[in-house]
Amino acid sequence: MPVITCIDDLKRIYERRVPRMFYDYAESGSWTEQTFRENSSDFDDIYLRQRVAVDMSGRSTASQMIGQDVSMPVALAPVGLTGMQCADGEIKAARAAEKFGVPFTLSTMSINSIEDVAEATTKPFWFQLYTMRDTDYVSRLIERARAANCSALVITLDLQILGQRHKDLKNGLSAPPKLTAKTIANLMTKWSWGIEMLGAKRRNFGNIVGHVDGISDAANLGAWTAEQFDPTLDWDKIAKIKEQWGGKVILKGILDAEDAKMALKVGADAIIVSNHGGRQLDGALSSIRALPSILEAVGDQVEVHLDSGIRSGQDVLKAVAMGAQGTYIGRAFVYGLGAMGQKGVETALEVIHKELDVSMALCGRQKVSDLDRDILLIPENFEGRWQS
Ligand SMILES: Cc1cc2nc3c(=O)[nH]c(=O)nc-3n(C[C@H](O)[C@H](O)[C@H](O)COP(=O)(O)O)c2cc1C
Repeated sequence: MPVITCIDDLKRIYERRVPRMFYDYAESGSWTEQTFRENSSDFDDIYLRQRVAVDMSGRSTASQMIGQDVSMPVALAPVGLTGMQCADGEIKAARAAEKFGVPFTLSTMSINSIEDVAEATTKPFWFQLYTMRDTDYVSRLIERARAANCSALVITLDLQILGQRHKDLKNGLSAPPKLTAKTIANLMTKWSWGIEMLGAKRRNFGNIVGHVDGISDAANLGAWTAEQFDPTLDWDKIAKIKEQWGGKVILKGILDAEDAKMALKVGADAIIVSNHGGRQLDGALSSIRALPSILEAVGDQVEVHLDSGIRSGQDVLKAVAMGAQGTYIGRAFVYGLGAMGQKGVETALEVIHKELDVSMALCGRQKVSDLDRDILLIPENFEGRWQS
């Protein structure tokens, strides 16, 4: 068994183990992938202030997100088709999150259903909602999430229309994979993935198949998306969904201070500064670069979370020290899952926890609540000065 010391180690194993189609699906951004790349590289522009001779005993990474205790300010982001990266992937990731004491967010586009995950876990998880044209279906999804005791609804706002990722089109991405000559040739080299997948509880979209009438091609994500995601979603509709849910609501995909103010107006419990991991609007700012202006606009009135580009505990530290109350990892946990199933997700969380803990200590801080911008060296004009 190789020694895993960083998220990149998991990524290397993941790449070897999982069919190319699903590796490419995760490891892509839209169009030129500029935003996808900068989501991570912009973290490198921020430096940490090393401080010494500070008592570092009794440290803790424990914190809270939307009033819930978390062992570190890191949740698992909603990731569609997680159950194609590894058999029963959502169940395994949810169990790893529960064991580690961080929130798990189940995607609408998951393979394991809401009920599958509820049955396999003991603590409430969060459910991510995509709004669909079929409002009855959306209502039923909300009711299913309620019945499963989900403790927050994460409404994704940045995918009314799908960003183009070249590789998915070229690979003919689908769940389960369509057996073309190219796919079969690749699957022949991924035996362990395939054998496990034969025993999986499900191999298609568990929240959709069997719950919606008249889907023309449920196996084809692109076609289904084009048909079903609601292009008319607006703030009034968001307010109505919030009312229907009645519990905690997190609005995901905010990248602009004006939208953050609207989110505040509809009464979000938290917002996630996110560009969907660079998978939607290519050419948009990285999340970490967009964070300061959003914090300035609404940071004292609503909890601000961040995702996109986080690959280490140092990235988490930078986002939290800048003012985010919590962060999410998408690809970083997918690498672990694809590499080694539940154990791999646990390893990804352990790696990030250790990096966060040690970096915090070397910055002279003992607790997450002690973190502030004072530990960061942020270049002047990091947020940019844009012409109006
Ligand atoms: C393969 C993949 C699938 C995703 N599917 C969803 C989804 O179904 N719903 C959603 O709200 N976000 C989805 N996202 C976006 C993630 O929730 C999150 O915003 C993003 O992964 C954060 O960037 P990171 O991967 O760099 O951590 C997906 C991301 C990836 C990589």
